[in-house]
Amino acid sequence: MRSELAASAPATIANLGPGFDVVGAALEEPRDRVEVKLVAEPSIVVRVEGTYASEVPSGEGNVCYVVAQEVLKRAEHRGGLRITLFKEVPPASGLGSSGASSAATAFAVNKALGEPLTSMETLLSALEGERYAAGAPHADNAAPSLLGGVVFIYSYNPLKLLRVDPPQGIHVVIATPLIRWAEKKTYLARQVLPKRISLKKMVKQLGGLVPLVAGIARGDPKLMGEGVNMDFVVEPARAKLIPRFKETKKAALKAGAYGCSISGAGPSIFALASPQTSSSVAKAMANVLESFSIDYRMLITKFSREGARIEG
Ligand code: HSE
Repeated sequence: MRSELAASAPATIANLGPGFDVVGAALEEPRDRVEVKLVAEPSIVVRVEGTYASEVPSGEGNVCYVVAQEVLKRAEHRGGLRITLFKEVPPASGLGSSGASSAATAFAVNKALGEPLTSMETLLSALEGERYAAGAPHADNAAPSLLGGVVFIYSYNPLKLLRVDPPQGIHVVIATPLIRWAEKKTYLARQVLPKRISLKKMVKQLGGLVPLVAGIARGDPKLMGEGVNMDFVVEPARAKLIPRFKETKKAALKAGAYGCSISGAGPSIFALASPQTSSSVAKAMANVLESFSIDYRMLITKFSREGARIEG
């Protein structure tokens, strides 16, 4: 047991191409950081600091509270916690903000308690944060944030997943249009999805997983990009929510990106590119957004092997 410690967990890209709720990958940056302190008094207090502190609630409304409560319950621990979240993953941007806060908290509290929970139990605790934030305990952000690498969730009930190291030498270009979303953005972005798809669509969508998985397994970015481009169900439904998505994607591909799609529930648009082309891809995406006077944030990063980790 360590009564006080700090941990962090990375932003993620969920729904890699056709892998809605099934494939997610950890990014090198940004990372949410939490400091946790075990206290005898059985209450949980959550404070928020950091770049995006004003954009998430403190106290009981924060996912860290929900996740910490779940870890304490599973560990049958009677004391309480003081948690400070340093919020560096931009909320409501499609980069797994709630998943990063949830993964960092589950990891940190479990470590502080002397690791009473298995890694699966830690993940299930983190998923309570996703259930609270998105209305569904989807694991394609929290799992890669906790475990790092690329995670394939192939069963939800019971939860089953596979983790692999990410392919090397790929740059991930992320353009985030700065648009105002309603609260509970992921919940709303799930409401626009079709409730039913035809068998023909299912076959097309499943086909997209083949180059994606094979590309990741072989470390072949071109093949991986081909898979990223093959979402025929979720991307078309959500594209309407993202200003100039189609034009931005077209420009990224024209500038040499291997593949381009929506990150998580959006509005971030991610493109996979070689280290040689990533700046031109970013520039091409930026040009489109600028030409339509859309403010945006741009980030070029990489996939990361590392998930949640102890800090300092
Ligand atoms: N798979 C989730 C969704 C990810 O698309 O709703 C949300 O970041």
